[in-house]
Amino acid sequence: MWEIRAARGEDASELGAVAREIFYDTFGPSNSVSDMEIYCSEEFTPEVLAGVIADPDTRILLAMHEGRIVGYAQIRHSEAPACVPGGPAIEMKRFYVLKAWHGTGLAGELLNAVNAKARAEGAEWLWLNVWEHNLRAIRFYEKCGFDTVGECPYVLGTDIQRDFIMAAPIDDLDRIFNEKIARTRQRS
Ligand SMILES: CC(C)(COP(=O)(O)OP(=O)(O)OC[C@H]1O[C@@H](n2cnc3c(N)ncnc32)[C@H](O)[C@@H]1OP(=O)(O)O)[C@@H](O)C(=O)NCCC(=O)NCCS
Repeated sequence: MWEIRAARGEDASELGAVAREIFYDTFGPSNSVSDMEIYCSEEFTPEVLAGVIADPDTRILLAMHEGRIVGYAQIRHSEAPACVPGGPAIEMKRFYVLKAWHGTGLAGELLNAVNAKARAEGAEWLWLNVWEHNLRAIRFYEKCGFDTVGECPYVLGTDIQRDFIMAAPIDDLDRIFNEKIARTRQRS
């Protein structure tokens, strides 16, 4: 089906194309072409992503299918906003899955791999930003165990938008994932 592995320098170009495709699918209908292009040129070029992959504070996990990237998660050690409760926390900066893979369970497996990685890096909490109108993502995060703990501005090109800040203890994320797997096994 799929495998999850760490990104390497040579993945930067394909990762940029996938990130751009997912970004346009998700946010293109709600934003101007010029704002989308400004953002993509700042965030998703092969050069920018090569730098992100090499950043010692960042980890990128790729979901691969038949040798192609179909989704990815980017976590980074950064200062958590004051609204994030609890102990040591890691930011989930990106969590992107290609449209063809939505609803397949891949996102849950990728998040489970993020949890394991974040825990291995010493985190007890995971936190993230999500656009207030990204209802599918918000629902996904809520069912996985995240709560909304705050909000912050987010700049997309020239447009200032509102993001929610969501956070969860990694123990809770693990428990909810394992309960879901157990229910799936019972049914089959
Ligand atoms: C966010 C993402 C990783 C979630 O993965 P996914 O495979 O789509 O998630 P799932 O299908 O397991 O869960 C989505 C949930 O949202 C629900 N949903 C779908 N559209 C919705 C909408 N418009 N409003 C509310 N809920 C919605 C689905 O029914 C499902 O809930 P359910 O399982 O209770 O029925 C994926 O959609 C994605 O990559 N999106 C594009 C990039 C993105 O937005 N990333 C997050 C940035 S913070």
